Parts: sequence; structure tokens; C-alpha cells
Amino acid sequence: MADEIWVDVGAVAELAGRAVQMVRVHQARVALTHKDGEFGAISGVCNHAGGPLGHGMLEGDFVTCPWHYWKFHRVTGAGEPGFEDDQVPAYDVRVENGRVLVNATPRIKRHKRYHAPHPVGRAPKREPGPIRVLGLSTTAMTAGHPRYSTSEDLLDHALRSCGEGETRLLKVRDLSFRACEGFYSKSAHACTWPCSITQMDPDDQMDRVYEGVVHWADVILVATPIRWGAASGLYYKMIERMNCIQNQETIANRHLLRNKVAGFIITGGQDNVQAVAGQMLGFFAEIGCQFPQFPYVAHSRGWSAEDMENNERYVMESKALHEGAAALVRRCVAMAKVMIETTLGEGALVGGGRKGHELDTRAQLHMSRAAGRENQSET
Ligand code: FES
Repeated sequence: MADEIWVDVGAVAELAGRAVQMVRVHQARVALTHKDGEFGAISGVCNHAGGPLGHGMLEGDFVTCPWHYWKFHRVTGAGEPGFEDDQVPAYDVRVENGRVLVNATPRIKRHKRYHAPHPVGRAPKREPGPIRVLGLSTTAMTAGHPRYSTSEDLLDHALRSCGEGETRLLKVRDLSFRACEGFYSKSAHACTWPCSITQMDPDDQMDRVYEGVVHWADVILVATPIRWGAASGLYYKMIERMNCIQNQETIANRHLLRNKVAGFIITGGQDNVQAVAGQMLGFFAEIGCQFPQFPYVAHSRGWSAEDMENNERYVMESKALHEGAAALVRRCVAMAKVMIETTLGEGALVGGGRKGHELDTRAQLHMSRAAGRENQSET
């Protein structure tokens, strides 16, 4: 047609060397593919969360998004079998005089299939009722072969000594969940809420932690053993998956946790209690928790007294440690009541979870402007 605009995106000799690449067609980012001597061109912006399709990989005839692996046909833009109506714009391509030309107007427009949101993604709202205390035990042990755990004993005692409200104990080892795959490392916007793994994997049970922490608890009491001077591996596996809670502060200034209080129980054979506590305090502060006065109780045998054969009995029989754990949960509950009964946590929290500034900066601005222009040109 006479009014068609074809944009020269480069030389065939150069572009044919890569299966997938991102090219610019005016303002639009386009995923240009090359397979069996034929070029294909679809939008470079994924239907899911805007991932860069032009930086993905080609699997058969489908471009796989590098962020969370949605697939789109490299020529038609249609989603993978079963999701054909989840379609990204597709462009005509032609080769002329050794150059690749892409029609500036997509022949197929974007169509997003409705995906029911994951229930965990609902807006957090505290339902009326008594104070709720969630215990998270992060020690590991073999199912069917339980052992005595000093941290879990003290946590269990704290929950039983709460004196009011509702309590729940979540043993993180009982949950089957995947390790964080570092979507944040690809792009802050690739780390979504709810977590992309939760959205894509119905068997992943991290949603139980999200439900408890974001939607249910007023008090979050975390118990960990000390392993090589740090909190347990299970603790770290859990909090890496909670990056998506903190990341909402980073990318959306959205506070999923308000008026929640955290406390910690830390026990170990060797020392390093203060470093473990410091790390835990730092993380839970960054997701928006408050703390009571003296927010942790701890115990360790120490470098020169690592007589672990006596350690279990010592903790089991220690009145002081049990009283300390009970007092901790009561301080947490008292603090939670203060938080709930005031408006301290209401309103915007400027720079919450960040370092007093917006996520930088020119690159983000450039990307959002480009996305805006692109959306205009596609529709
Ligand atoms: S799969 Fe593309 S942005 Fe999530």
C-alpha cells in the first residue's frame, strides 16, 4: 500500500546471525527472529510484565521471554498452544537489496488474555479481631525423624505463653517451595508481587508464608538456629523469596506490611548472635516491620564451650530462656496493639524501604517513556 512505512533495521548479513534480537522500529521495540532463512518480527514487549522479548531465546517457533518464560510465536505473535489469544503485535518483514525492512504498523494488535490474579495479590487489609501472632520456625530436620530444636522449643513456648489473641506456627521445613531464581537481578520490574514463582507454580507453597506475613499476622516471630555464624539456610531461602515484598517499595512505593511487629529467637552452638540479629532486624525493617523494645532473645554456648551434648538439656531446662521468650512475644503483642490502635502507620511512607530516593532514574524514565510511546504506536 502506498502509505505503508517500512523501516530499515539493518543488513541481512548481520541480522541473520542471531536467532532473536531486539531492534527499533521507530519508537517500538521489536523482537526480530531468524530461522530457516526467514525473518519474523513481533513486539519486543511481553504481555505478562513487559519483559524484553528481543532478549529472549528461540525455542522452536516461539520466542521465550527472558523474565518468566512466557512464549509467543515468532511470526504471528500468538501465545503458546492453549494460550493463543494471549498475543503480542506482529509485524510484516521483507528483505530488499540485502536489507531487512519491518513494516512500522503491526498487522496484528496486542491482545491480552485475562489471567485471574493470584489470591495472595489482593490488597492487604487487616480484618477486625484479636491480635494474631505468627511463629515461623526456620530450623531444618527430617520429616518422620524429629529432633529437639532449641529455637523451635522457645518459639513454641512463646506462642503458648502469648496470653491473648490467636497464634499460628508455620514450620518452614514442612513447606515445599522453590528457591528464589533472582528475577530481581534481571530487572527490578521482573520481581513481581505476588512472586512470579507463586504465580506460575501451583505446587509452590511459599504462598502460605505470604498469606501469613502479609494478610494475617500482626506479630511475626521468627526462630532460627545459628549455622556457621549466620541464620539457617532455610531462613535465607524463605527471605530471598520475600524480596518481592520489599521490591514493591522499590518499584511502586507500595507498602504491603503496615502496623506489623517482628521479633526473633536465635539460638546456636557458637556465638555471632548480634550479627545474626542485626541481619534479621535489617531485613524485617526493610519490609516495613516495627520492633518492640529488645526485639530478640538469644542463646549460644560460645566458642570455648561448644558442648552440644549438654546444650539441648541446658535450653530445655532453662527457666530464664523460656521466660525470656514469653516476655518477648508479650512485648511484641503490646507493640502491635499500639500500632493498630494509632494511625502511625497510615498515609504515604515516602521513600519507604528505599534509601530516600526513587529507583534510578534516567534509565527508568527512559524506559517508561519509551513504553508509553510504544503503546501509543501499537494501538
Ligand atoms: S514472562 Fe514476560 S514479563 Fe513475565
